[in-house]
Amino acid sequence: MQNAPRESSWRVQLQACMQIPKSRPYYTGWPHDRFVMSPAFFALIPAAGAGARAGSAVPKQYAPLLGKPMLLHTLAAFGAVPGIAAIHVVVSKEEAWLETLGGSAFPEHCQIHRVGGTTRAQSVLNGLKAIEAKPDDWVLVHDAARPCITPAMIEGLIAALKDDEVGGLLAIPVPDTVKRADSAGRVAETISREGLWLAQTPQMFRYGVLREALQRFPDVTDEAGAIERMGLKPKLVQGDARNIKATYPADFALAEAYLKAP
Ligand code: C5P
Repeated sequence: MQNAPRESSWRVQLQACMQIPKSRPYYTGWPHDRFVMSPAFFALIPAAGAGARAGSAVPKQYAPLLGKPMLLHTLAAFGAVPGIAAIHVVVSKEEAWLETLGGSAFPEHCQIHRVGGTTRAQSVLNGLKAIEAKPDDWVLVHDAARPCITPAMIEGLIAALKDDEVGGLLAIPVPDTVKRADSAGRVAETISREGLWLAQTPQMFRYGVLREALQRFPDVTDEAGAIERMGLKPKLVQGDARNIKATYPADFALAEAYLKAP
């Protein structure tokens, strides 16, 4: 606190855009001269997948989109949100692609953790264990493979959840008719889409609860799933259909189109 900078126009702007109360700021001095709110907001980006379904020669998070690796598009969006205190990226232990990107390509408040696990949930849990955070701090977990996320989408999620007791996630209502298949690939039933949402990321929860939830329920495919198993109800925040997860080769062209005209 002793070194805390005086009130600046930057801080006033930040409060205006994040609608964060003026009280309780603190200042770390690490690894950059940024104000850190209390509770703080951290981004955690799991990027330790092999991306086999994408069919590309490199793991999909490094596949070029508009001439830039996918991961760097994702990091640039979080880097442009002033309220994010640090961006933590989880890569696999034997990661060799990272070095090819060049350190200067990363936002200054980005930290790499070589603690990737065999599943996405394990990578996220290992990342949570690797970072220094207080139980009440917020963590925004976002797939590296969702490069079309924008600062406005991230800020919208934070604004919707920063006073929420549980936290929640970006999601979109299911637009199509939903069918359940039988083992022969024929329609077994049509499921009402009323109340059905497609989960996206970021998913935003308190550090302490999220860590405990993933520790207890590691067999989930997203953070909200683990939080639900704790008996809590994450809030659904309307997302954007452009926030796609690049999974199959055709997704890459679509992602490039969205990145060109966000
Ligand atoms: O494979 P999937 O598309 O579900 O991956 C979502 C995100 O989780 C990707 O950014 C991927 O790199 C990450 N992941 C991970 N560790 C794994 C598997 C996936 O960090 N073991």
